[in-house]
Amino acid sequence: MAIAFWQDQYCTGDHQTDREHQDLFALVNTLHDALTQAEHPATLRGILEELASHTLDHFRTEEVLMQNHNYPDYGRHKQSHDRLEAKVRALLQRIEADESALTADIPAFLADWLVHHIKGEDQKMISFLKTQVRDLVSC
Ligand SMILES: [Fe+2]
Repeated sequence: MAIAFWQDQYCTGDHQTDREHQDLFALVNTLHDALTQAEHPATLRGILEELASHTLDHFRTEEVLMQNHNYPDYGRHKQSHDRLEAKVRALLQRIEADESALTADIPAFLADWLVHHIKGEDQKMISFLKTQVRDLVSC
């Protein structure tokens, strides 16, 4: 059963950003399902590593986009990414030492973080970019 639900209101109009956000939702749900089904710890860890890798790649996508367009709130947005990145890296380290540290509250936390970040910082970023870039679509 999914815990991260994509909604049209999360659409930013930037195709790559939206596609990557949807991938992250899918991976959070995959992790949640695997935890619910008590999959082998190595499987769970693999999914978390994939989710972490997609998340960090996605942050870089947004950061390049912001830098390319001199986004005035780049610093604050980057800090938000950096804080989650630090948490995810710490979590990966904890799990390396103790596989039972990967618990059901983790996908729930990630789903919540994603929704708040998309509705907040990402929508602000895209609103600015729409004033700079003509090829963003309305959605
Ligand atoms: Fe972001």
